[in-house]
Parts: sequence; C-alpha cells; structure tokens
Amino acid sequence: MKLVEEIHRLKVERNAVILAHNYQIPAIQDLADFVGDSLGLSLQAQATEAETIVFCGVHFMAETAAVLCPDKTVLIPDLEAGCSLASTITVDQLRTWKEEHPGAVVVVYVNCSADVKAEADYCCTSANALRIVESIAADREILFAPDMFLGEYIRENTERTIHVWMGECHVHAAIRPADVKSQLAQHPDAELLIHPECGCVSNVMWQLSKGDLPSDRTRITSTSGMVESIESSPAREFLVATETGILHQMRKRHPDRTFLPIKADAECMYMKMITLEKLARTLREGIYEVRVPEETAARARRALERMVAIH
Ligand code: 13P
Ligand code: SF4
Repeated sequence: MKLVEEIHRLKVERNAVILAHNYQIPAIQDLADFVGDSLGLSLQAQATEAETIVFCGVHFMAETAAVLCPDKTVLIPDLEAGCSLASTITVDQLRTWKEEHPGAVVVVYVNCSADVKAEADYCCTSANALRIVESIAADREILFAPDMFLGEYIRENTERTIHVWMGECHVHAAIRPADVKSQLAQHPDAELLIHPECGCVSNVMWQLSKGDLPSDRTRITSTSGMVESIESSPAREFLVATETGILHQMRKRHPDRTFLPIKADAECMYMKMITLEKLARTLREGIYEVRVPEETAARARRALERMVAIH
C-alpha cells in the first residue's frame, strides 16, 4: 500500500500520466489513469496534457507514444519488456520484401519497431485493421506485416490482394483450435471472445462460415473490443482467447458474469515484467526514457497518424 501511495504522490510531482495495457498485472491496471488496447493507449497518449507519459506496456507501445508525442517525455519501467511478434521483422527484411513487390502499399501492425513503421505507408492495430485496409484503393497490392494470423483474418474479411509476413506472437499462436473445441465442449452456452492474433483464428472463421460456431456468440476483436462487447451481450459466461491479463478488466467491470481463459497459461512474460517496484523507480528516477531519432520518427509518424485517424 505504501508503494501505491508513493506512486500516486510521485505521479503528481512529475506531472505524469500512467497508461497501462490490458495485459498488465492487476495492481498496475488498478492504479493506472487509463487501461486499454494499443489504439486506445495511443489516443490517450496524444490527448494527455501531462508532461510525462509512463507507459506500462511493452517497448513498441512506448515507442509509438514517443513518435506520436514528440514534446512529451515517455518512460517505460523496464526496457527489456519487448514483444516476440515485433521481433519477427527487421527493417532490412521489410526493405527487401518491398523490393520484391514494387508499388505495393505497406501496412504494418503496430506490434513492430519504429524503424519498421518508418518504412510503412499505414500502421494499424487489431481494433482498426479492417477499416485501415478498406481505406486503401481496391486495386492496390498490399504487404501486411508482421502477424500472419491477423493478416489472414484481414485477407478473409476484405477482398484485397494481400501478401502476409509469416510472423507470430508466441502467446497467441499457442492458442489452437483444439483449445477452443475442448473449452466449448465444457461450456456450450458461452460466448467466444477471440483476439485476431490467435493461432485458432483461421479455424474459427472457417467454422463460422460453415455454421459450426454460432456467429451471434463469437467475436473476433481487440482486447478493449472484447471488454466493450460484454456490455451489450446477454451471455453470462465467456470464453476468452488472448493473454490472460485481460480477465482482470472483465471481472472487475462485470463481477456478475463468468470469464474463463481458453488457454490458462497464455501469459506474456514481457507484459508481466512491469511491477509496482519498477513503476515507482521510474517515477522517482525518471528512467527509462524511450526516444526515437527524429529522422525515423518523422517517417513513422505518417503511418501512425493514419492509424489514429481511423478509429
Ligand atoms: P490489443 O491492441 O488488441 O490490445 O493487442 C495488443 C497486443 O499486444 C496483443 O498481443
Ligand atoms: Fe507481443 Fe504477444 Fe506479448 Fe502481445 S502478447 S506484447 S504480441 S509477445
């Protein structure tokens, strides 16, 4: 409790805002000024009047805030909080891929480095990926990186020519069709909430198209999209396919309903690196600042501004 009080005091002294992703540990989510998905956090970063943004999430999220808010100080409590998906593509790999498809429009998922974003035309999140791709002229060839499951989801739901990079997040890729099947067998009336990064998503779409899954009880959406959809759902029980940190927001907002993970060990070790102790040290000592060189930031900003404009 003393640590939480210290964090609140230091936050005021530093004129800071604390932004936390939905996968953060409950103690961090509970003291944050805003908890949300990648898109919501980017919008909050842009909107804040605080001088300092303390980002309780992973590195690419703090980098995104630094690019979108060049006049603010952006701090992350642990620089090692990376992302296995973001690591699946380097800027050199993206340049080579672009050379193989001259004239293609490049759309990158926000889970990538600022260097990679700087080579892209558009950036998107799981909340607006379909809308971003649909905003591109229908006759243009599209390169989508780095998540193959989200890429496949976009390809299935838009009539575009899309080449997809074969990257994956180790946490979501491990959520397989068999996990969905066995949980549904035990909870046949539950509503399904599926993140489009999941390894089960193509199979879920296929089953939906055959009528083997109920379309009125299956949602494929971002983490905050999941939380928001609960409000208007009549279901009492939900099966959730994403990182288990999201269950805290769901249970907190809807204590009268039941939320079960489709895979109980779907935990992102990077998201869990942020602790109360590290957050307090960040506010005390002003570490670690996340900066993006202006030359890279200026190019990444074009793609990111298109992302935040379509929400
Ligand atoms: P959301 O933007 O849906 O919260 O997803 C972020 C993420 O890292 C998924 O693993
Ligand atoms: Fe990256 Fe996966 Fe962790 Fe999300 S859950 S931050 S995609 S490693």
